[in-house]
Amino acid sequence: MRFSDIHDLEKPNDEKALALMNSCAAAVLEEYPDIVFSYGFNDEYSFVFKRKTKFYQRRASKIMSLIVSFFSSVYATKWKEFFPHKEMKCPLSFLARLLCCASLEVLQAYLAWRQNECHIRNLHNTCLWMLIKSGKSAKEAVEVLQGTQKQEKNELLFQQFGINYRMLPEIFRQGSCIFMMQAEDVVKYDEHGNPIKRMRRRPRMIHNEHIAGQNFWNGQQYLLMELGPFENDIKKIKAAYVRSFLFENKLMPSTWIVIRIDGCHFHRFSEVHEFEKPNDQQALNLMNSCAVAVLEEFKDIVFSYGVSDEYSFILSKDSKFYQRQASQIVSVIVSFFSSVYVMKWKDFFPFKELKFSPSFDGRAVCYPSTEILRDYLAWRQVDCHINNQYNTCFWMLVKSGKSKSEAQSYLKGTQTREKNELLIRQFNIDYNTLPEMFRRGSSVFRIKGEDSTMPKNGTFGDAKEKIITDHSNIIEDAFWKEHPSILS
Ligand code: GTP
Ligand code: MG
Repeated sequence: MRFSDIHDLEKPNDEKALALMNSCAAAVLEEYPDIVFSYGFNDEYSFVFKRKTKFYQRRASKIMSLIVSFFSSVYATKWKEFFPHKEMKCPLSFLARLLCCASLEVLQAYLAWRQNECHIRNLHNTCLWMLIKSGKSAKEAVEVLQGTQKQEKNELLFQQFGINYRMLPEIFRQGSCIFMMQAEDVVKYDEHGNPIKRMRRRPRMIHNEHIAGQNFWNGQQYLLMELGPFENDIKKIKAAYVRSFLFENKLMPSTWIVIRIDGCHFHRFSEVHEFEKPNDQQALNLMNSCAVAVLEEFKDIVFSYGVSDEYSFILSKDSKFYQRQASQIVSVIVSFFSSVYVMKWKDFFPFKELKFSPSFDGRAVCYPSTEILRDYLAWRQVDCHINNQYNTCFWMLVKSGKSKSEAQSYLKGTQTREKNELLIRQFNIDYNTLPEMFRRGSSVFRIKGEDSTMPKNGTFGDAKEKIITDHSNIIEDAFWKEHPSILS
């Protein structure tokens, strides 16, 4: 809602915004071949995986977070294609839920439910906005529509505004389905100039009034093959029945919630974008800047720690954020982070084009005590140290002429002290003088007004709290003593 207001999207439907959503969904289908079918309207999209998918061993959080992250990142990437004259002013995030359909009938009931929602909401919003555009206040318009049935809304549109609802664009009334279809493509030409054709899978968009109907569904070869036929038509919408299959994972009360996100295939992402090895200052600054944006947006996050392509966000013990539903908290944070990453890319890499949309996976873990939470953070910082020290040696050896496998066997079994000596002896590098951000990772956190600590750098906002980026040792007590309010 807020996003559409800020960007002045047309009410009740913005064709370009819908086309952008559809384009993102098509990108998701191309990226993840296990997705068989998708359906979307307004600001939501549903993706249906094939029954026997082994995608990430069917780990719920991984699947859900990757899809929502990729979708958000593509959305931010493609924004300018659809709105060339409108800047994307703020990041967006999507909530994602997972639903396991025990049978094809549940899937059918789910699709019927979502398409019915599309219809009900669109009819309501069309009436609402026509009333508002004709001079009524939002409150008056709501009162006019209170308790009205479909038939009455249709009549209101026709009589007061001369609109025949059935003549409005299908995409508004019916939503959009996108699924893969076989299409013949010319891949190249032979020496005689004859086209060589191959069958390729391509996402195709279809609008249909009854996506959950036998007629539509059983008429699609591809859906029949991947999912099977619908046996009967659905007579009644069974929303409560469908909801009972929703995968809910409520996080334990009174525990610290850690949401850890991790870049997907960042090995490749960093290669393609030619990140400096082993550490790219700008890439790390970009990650930190995204973390600052996340803390600004989600007030329940008290602390975050990041290294390489990962970030851990800690929510306060008593947080009631999304009633502590894991999928909602993970999806909203990971999708927000992804869209910020794309939006800020240019600020950090003004001369590098973003070649494809990055995605992050996310998971939620609860820690019952401050002590265990600190163990977790210490584990991440130790990991940062071990990896960074190894990578620094490895890349120095490679840059000095060793092959990657030579460098690897050279370092095998070496201890911290030996690696430090190697750096000094062979490359005249004192490991302890390398930038703190590389050696210790980054902490982004808020300190409250009453906290007397002056930030080394940070945003002052309206002085009540400051968000700080810092590279301290978070394993030792000193840091936590200096900032007692963080985990209080
Ligand atoms: P998944 O997370 O399993 O999808 O694989 P991944 O390729 O993202 O690997 P992983 O998360 O284990 O490790 C992160 C990878 O990102 C590293 O192995 C590096 O290849 C790359 N990476 C992260 N930060 C930097 C950086 O500053 N410079 C360079 N050159 N690479 C980086
Ligand atoms: Mg990764």
